[in-house]
Amino acid sequence: MNQHHWKPRKVVIVGAGNVGSTYAFTLALRGLADEIVLIDANRDFAKGQALDMMHGQAFFPSIQIREGGPADYTDAALIVITAGAKQQPGETRLSLVQRNAIIIKSCMDEIVAAKSEAVVLIVSNPVDILTYVAHKVSGWPRGRVIGSGTVLDSARFRHLLAQRCNVDVHNVHAHIMGEHGDSEFAAWSITNMAGMPIDHYCETCEKCPEPRLGRDEIVAEVRNSAYHVIGYKGATWFAVALALADISTSILRNHHSVLTVSAVLDGEYGEHGVALGVPSLMSWRGVDTVLQVDLPEEEAAALHKSAATLRDIIASIDI
Ligand code: 2OP
Repeated sequence: MNQHHWKPRKVVIVGAGNVGSTYAFTLALRGLADEIVLIDANRDFAKGQALDMMHGQAFFPSIQIREGGPADYTDAALIVITAGAKQQPGETRLSLVQRNAIIIKSCMDEIVAAKSEAVVLIVSNPVDILTYVAHKVSGWPRGRVIGSGTVLDSARFRHLLAQRCNVDVHNVHAHIMGEHGDSEFAAWSITNMAGMPIDHYCETCEKCPEPRLGRDEIVAEVRNSAYHVIGYKGATWFAVALALADISTSILRNHHSVLTVSAVLDGEYGEHGVALGVPSLMSWRGVDTVLQVDLPEEEAAALHKSAATLRDIIASIDI
């Protein structure tokens, strides 16, 4: 057999709803994959979504999009799981845990049975708990089973800082760490504007009467972002799809970006047996290295608090 045959970059998306299909559309527009396969419990819906996108094939970079099944896991480069129950207005992500843990476990069982060599990216909520569950079920290296973590929260944070400081968002480097949820925190100590630490930047900018004033409000706004959007339109999907496309670029193109994906910690920050959003170096293998930022006391305490919250939930689930 010819070992040098061309292998399409195949991305399998489990869950063809708003998040899964907007992500598929973003991937296709950017030409990041050669083949996109949608899997959904409602097969007709997945077929319809794929067909609707394929009717625009002439307007995309070369792409095949179709509905598929578990056999597609085997030769996928990336499997993205968006399936599961969603938050209702006012509901927390953590309340979804038992229902979605069962869905993720059965999905992971099928992926492992298919002898997949893909990187698995969990998106369904509560994403950190489900990442932990998926990793445990798989028995794979932790870098290959990751969650979208606080990549979206970090983008929301950068957006709010950019608006407040009137600086291009691309010059704002800022990370939200911890749970993708109510116990997340801002790593102010590594926040910078075009390389200048935020405190230093604020001293030179003179836009705010008292630069540190309002920081808690910005973090609260980040934390409540999803609640606001869900309150207005029932769910979030555009920004999360863009965040997923960014994570996917790093994996499919081996970009070595640093992103706050959720990874199971193995001693980093003194934590074990819990997955949460931490700055991580990404490659085609998934997470290559979890970066250990030297956090000041207050931020380290926030990380441990977030880890403890997640560990308590992990202890309570039944799978
Ligand atoms: C979000 O943060 C709901 O987790 C989703 O938009």
